[in-house]
Amino acid sequence: MALKNINPSQTASWQKIQLHFEAMKSVQMKELFSKDSQRAEKMHIEWSDFLLDYSKNIVTEETLQLFLDLANEVHLKEAISKYFEGALINQTENRSVLHTALRAPENATVLVDGVNVIPEVYTVKNKIKVFSDEIISGKRKGFTGKKFTDIVNIGIGGSDLGPAMAVEALQFYKNHLTTHFVSNIDGDHVTEVLKKLNPETTLFVVVSKTFSTQETILNAATIKNWFLQAGTEEAVAEHFVAVSTNIEKVAEFGIDANAVFPMWDWVGGRFSLWSAVGLSISLAIGFENFDGLLKGANKMDDHFKNESFDKNMPVILAFLSIWYNNFFGSESEAIIPYTQYLDKFVPYLQQGIMESNGKSIARDGKPVNYQTGTIIWGEPGSNSQHAFFQLIHQGTKLIPTDFIGFKEGLHGNEAHHDILMSNFFAQTETLLMGKTEEQVKADLKKQDISSEKASFLTPFKLFAGNKPTNTILIDKLTPESLGSLLALYEHKIFVQGIIWNIFSFDQWGVELGKQSASTILAEIESENVGMHDGSTSFLLKKYLK
Ligand code: F6P
Repeated sequence: MALKNINPSQTASWQKIQLHFEAMKSVQMKELFSKDSQRAEKMHIEWSDFLLDYSKNIVTEETLQLFLDLANEVHLKEAISKYFEGALINQTENRSVLHTALRAPENATVLVDGVNVIPEVYTVKNKIKVFSDEIISGKRKGFTGKKFTDIVNIGIGGSDLGPAMAVEALQFYKNHLTTHFVSNIDGDHVTEVLKKLNPETTLFVVVSKTFSTQETILNAATIKNWFLQAGTEEAVAEHFVAVSTNIEKVAEFGIDANAVFPMWDWVGGRFSLWSAVGLSISLAIGFENFDGLLKGANKMDDHFKNESFDKNMPVILAFLSIWYNNFFGSESEAIIPYTQYLDKFVPYLQQGIMESNGKSIARDGKPVNYQTGTIIWGEPGSNSQHAFFQLIHQGTKLIPTDFIGFKEGLHGNEAHHDILMSNFFAQTETLLMGKTEEQVKADLKKQDISSEKASFLTPFKLFAGNKPTNTILIDKLTPESLGSLLALYEHKIFVQGIIWNIFSFDQWGVELGKQSASTILAEIESENVGMHDGSTSFLLKKYLK
């Protein structure tokens, strides 16, 4: 077995954490801070251009020590080595998990079935570079001799979310090409995108690891038909490229073998933006910047692999997440980036986190007897403060929240940036400190209201505080820092999967939905509703009416 099978809840450290939780569950962080003026000094990690302050958590040094013991008991160190070395840790699909190899340096050696995959990775990277350079410079032209102006990425899930997120996040570094994304099988989506395009100047990148995903294949076919109204079959070769492992299916679709950017089955869809799936990113921001993204991720890989666990950012974030998920019974976690550029960051992470760790079967094939995957949600601040922060501050649920901010804005508008960041710091402080009855009463006293009204209002204006947050403060949003940030969360996912004793790199839960949809599609097409539960039959009949 590539990974050990250890039920975490049966380990000695888990039992100790459970006991420790009983002592910690009503501890007030405020008190921890007043007892130890050095708390933030002790509970932060500075690494490269990142600062992680995790002192605003309901933890003590003992909590962290117990989690370090747990990590040892589940052999985390050994699992990390297996992950990076290409062991078959995706056991249900009998595959290695090697998105980290895609950002490894050229002189690295990573073996899959005894063969070093790094030279192949660099051949594809070079193909991405040459192709991106030719499209951006205008050397490669469309079928009527015009330069390309627009790129359309056709893909879904990991073949869409990563490129779409990164192109948006790094738009400051973008060139003249306009990038569009078609993902949803909803015909209105593709139609709206096509409305904006000129077939003579548009390049289509069909991204599908399997080249059999219904949404992508249908959208690509619809787009090809639209294109053929203007261009010929030969012109397709100049305007359509594919990213896939399935060369045969790509050929069937009519894309030339030379126009295929290969990927490998050891790259999971949700971790694939580092591969040729990132072609749209390279086209949008240029290969140098795309490579910067990879280098930033590689730097974080080194930190994760080599740093001791007590100073290891992904490991600490994973511990904290498990602490709230499994002991405090938190149902979800919020992630709030304080930059509009990271608007698509949380939807991207939702796939990474929830598709990976949304599992209920342990590595021994038996149901787990503890909680696994966390529910992730969030939106950029400060917008989100005016949307759902009320619930985080005063709702009944404990929602540990990651705040991600940057010391510098990109356009140099310091006045805006300082206000943005004052909100960033104010939120974590308020979530920690809350507002006491004395403070509320003192505030109300200053207002011209009756004492009756003041006592009526007091309970509504109280903030319990003691809401845990992590602060991730980064110098500046660059391709490198984005790469590091994405890899930080990837490795957090890995650590959690190891501790929870699940397989993080398959996604069987998505497959069943795909199968049922094709059964129902056949029934809709034949207008013949088959055997379903009462509700589904009822709805299908209504739909067909
Ligand atoms: O959503 C399930 C999934 O299998 C993802 O893991 C993957 O990113 C997506 O579908 C798209 O798959 P493909 O790249 O093969 O079209």
